[in-house]
Amino acid sequence: MNIDELKSVANAIVAKQKGVLAADESNPTIKKRLAAVNVESTEENRRRYREILFTTDGIERYVGGVIVFDETLRQSTRDGVPFAKLLAGRGIVPGIKVDKGAKPLALFPGNKVTEGLDGLRDRLAEYRQLGAQFAKWRAVIDINEHGIPSPYAIHANVHALARYAALCQEVDLVPIVEPEVLMDGAHDIARCEEVTSWVLEAVFNELDAHRVVLEGMLLKPNMVIAGKKSPRQASVHEVAEATLRCLRRYVPAAVPGIVFLSGGQSAEDATDHLNAMNAIGPQPWQLSFSYGRALQAPVLTAWQGQESHAAAAQQALLKRCRLNGLARDGKYARAMETAA
Ligand code: 13P
Repeated sequence: MNIDELKSVANAIVAKQKGVLAADESNPTIKKRLAAVNVESTEENRRRYREILFTTDGIERYVGGVIVFDETLRQSTRDGVPFAKLLAGRGIVPGIKVDKGAKPLALFPGNKVTEGLDGLRDRLAEYRQLGAQFAKWRAVIDINEHGIPSPYAIHANVHALARYAALCQEVDLVPIVEPEVLMDGAHDIARCEEVTSWVLEAVFNELDAHRVVLEGMLLKPNMVIAGKKSPRQASVHEVAEATLRCLRRYVPAAVPGIVFLSGGQSAEDATDHLNAMNAIGPQPWQLSFSYGRALQAPVLTAWQGQESHAAAAQQALLKRCRLNGLARDGKYARAMETAA
C-alpha cells in the first residue's frame, strides 16, 4: 500500500471547488434513466450519453473525479480514446463502481446487503490496469416503522464496506465508502439522524478493525433529511445543521473529504443543502458532492437522445457543476438557477 499515493488521489478528487460526477449507473439503472427520456438503452446510446458527459468543456474546473460502471470503463470516444484516458488527460480522476448491487439479506425480510466481495481482489487489479484510480461500493439502508433497519443488517453492510475498502487500499485504489440511508420512507429528519448515526458509528468501527487508512479514503454519505413521504419536510438550514452535527460526531477528522450522494433530492435542493453546510464555516473535512441524479437529471432532459441537443445537454451539465462548485464555498444562491 502506497499511502502517499492514496492521500494524493483522495485530495485531488476533493480539491478546491471540485467534487465527483457519479455516472456509474449499472445497465438496469441507466435503462430506467434513458427510458424516462424515451431513449433505448443500447450499448451505443449508453456510450454516446457518457461521451457527451465526459467531453463537456469546462467541467474539469469542478469535477475532480468521475465514477463509471464496468461497461463504460471499457468504452471509448468516437475517435477511439478510452474514456479513462480521456478523463485522466483532462485532469479528472477515473473511478469505478465495484459492488454488485444490494440484494435481500437472507432471513432478514425487508433488509438488504450489498454483494460483490467474491473475486473482488482480481477485479480491482484489472480495473487498475484499465486506468481506475479510485473505486466505489454502495451499501443501502432502508428505514421503515417495522424495525428496519435491523442492527444485524447494518453490521453485515458495514463489514462488507470495510472488506472492500481494505482490498482497494491493498492495490492503491482510493475507496469511496458509501453507506446510503435511503430517503424513500415517511420518517422525519430526527429518525434519519438516528439511523445515520448508528450507521456511521458502525462504519468507522469496522474500517478501524480492518486497518483501513482513513487519510486515503473518501466517505459518501446521505444527508440527514426527512423521508420523501414525510408530511414534515425540514428546511435547508435544518438539513445542514443536522447533517453536520451527525458527521462531526461520527466521522474522524483524518478523513480528507465527504462527498454526498443526492439520493433523490432535486438538483436545486442538493446544491442548496451542500451550500448551506459550507456556509456554516470550516469543517475538519472537505464537504463536497458525488451526485448522480442531481447532476445528470437536467442533462438527460436536455438531451432526449437527440444529437442536435448534445450542446444543450453539455451546457446543462456545466451549469450544475459550476453551481455545485460555488456551493463548495458557500457562495451559491437559489436565484442563480434562473440567471443565464
Ligand atoms: P445519486 O446522487 O443519484 O443518489 O447517485 C449517487 C450514487 O452514486 C449512488 O450510488
